[in-house]
Amino acid sequence: MTRTARPAPAHVQNPLPRATALETAQVLRDVQAPMIAKGPIIRRPRVVGVIERFGLEGRAVARMQALSDRYGSGPLMLAVPGRDIALVLDPEHVHRVLAETPEPFAPGEMLKRNALKHFEPEVALVSHGTERAQRRRLNEQVLDDGHPVHRMAGDFLPVVEQEAVALLETADRAGSVLAWDEFKAAWYRVVRRVVLGDSAADDTELTDLMEKLRADGNWAFFKPVDTRARAELHSRLQAALDRAEPGSLAAFMARADAGPDDSPINQIPQWLFAFDPAGMATFRALALLAAHPERMAQARREVAARASESVSEQATGQASGPSGGAAGRAAGSSGTAPLKPLGLLRATVLESLRLWATTPMLLRQTTREVGFDHGVLPAGATVLIFAPFFHRDDRHVEVAHRFAPELWDPDRTAEAGAPVGWPLVPFSAGPGICPGRHLVLLLTSSFLARLIGDREIAVASHRLDPEHLPSLLSNFALEFRLS
Ligand code: HEM
Repeated sequence: MTRTARPAPAHVQNPLPRATALETAQVLRDVQAPMIAKGPIIRRPRVVGVIERFGLEGRAVARMQALSDRYGSGPLMLAVPGRDIALVLDPEHVHRVLAETPEPFAPGEMLKRNALKHFEPEVALVSHGTERAQRRRLNEQVLDDGHPVHRMAGDFLPVVEQEAVALLETADRAGSVLAWDEFKAAWYRVVRRVVLGDSAADDTELTDLMEKLRADGNWAFFKPVDTRARAELHSRLQAALDRAEPGSLAAFMARADAGPDDSPINQIPQWLFAFDPAGMATFRALALLAAHPERMAQARREVAARASESVSEQATGQASGPSGGAAGRAAGSSGTAPLKPLGLLRATVLESLRLWATTPMLLRQTTREVGFDHGVLPAGATVLIFAPFFHRDDRHVEVAHRFAPELWDPDRTAEAGAPVGWPLVPFSAGPGICPGRHLVLLLTSSFLARLIGDREIAVASHRLDPEHLPSLLSNFALEFRLS
């Protein structure tokens, strides 16, 4: 009897480089443990403080650099028993993995699914196939993906303005000190008003419920899902969709062209959740400006120029707001004229996210075997892109530890100190890129614009060295003095 030779699985024939047991233990200790300890879904303030104090994020980047010096382009398989985990070491591979999402690199990676099921089991991010495509499309539609200025900006910006002014008044009453708790309270009012409508402005119970479920999410499969609390959250969000308050994303969602499997209710928790890191990034961006007076002055000039353009356009009758048309909300200074994005302030928020990434781990799971130059990645493998390794890799990025907003101008990246095409991916990239990024940058830059308007602002809690910014800046401990 002749035997037909059956090829051995490709990953056995042509394995990718594999880290030793010691190197794997070092990666788990230096890279993964701090990320998990500080809370992947909601941050634990005390752990963030410890990581900041001991420079552990910097140690994680150094560990990745050592592996890349030793193994070159990878991807590098970790020696974890029973699981295939690959570390991405090469900038080209970052682009490839993100561009080839969702096939063969599915975003619905196992750990992420287990974390998010606590509050949004049917969110686009962990869905597959046609369901993912439809849910993604719904998000893109409502978040106005691809447009720097959301079509409902005319509704949102007055809210930002009102809450920022109220925050400054609160800070004045607190002895001209601006601390995280007050900032967070104001930012969450913006978030609830923008997402759910003005009547949710004071609904801190909803935020508390989200935070409880996110805290459960930190434990992924180690904690059973609190189905009652999740149902309670979803019924509150359904009520907001039913109310469809003019000027809110909920109203836009209620009108959107959603199919039966799109599960709008499961998409909204992602928005509420993801606006939290947007607040952190804004607070840190304020620290960047305060520590760089010449940038602060430049940003103020930008804000003043936009305000005067807006006034003169209104005076000459050119106003044509981008608003989705909510009646009833007074248009703010920037709400009725065509809006130009605040370039420097947007780039400042992007720099805050580059320096202190709020989604440091981009995870994918292979849906089949995938060939690389140096071997084959098995099907079902977890692929880990550790964004801070690329963002702060001082072997290649000259300004790795400095504030360099020009990095975000595609024509000036090289001049600003990073190789052209270097992966700066705080919002991911490719077909899985964050569809909320423009809305985030619009709201955060506008909030900053109002805060820096007419005050001197100094960082009171930290001493930031502009030549070497810390590997982590705790938003919880950050405090400003206003004058
Ligand atoms: C600083 C704030 C934010 C950052 C840094 C951020 C970053 C990201 C990243 C990195 C991803 C991809 C995750 C992955 O591939 O595993 C993502 C996905 C997503 N983000 Fe954001 N995000 C932010 C805020 C927001 C906000 C405010 C919204 C909504 C209002 C939003 C909506 C989404 C959605 C719907 C997805 C899933 C996209 C998909 O399934 O393809 N994000 N975000």
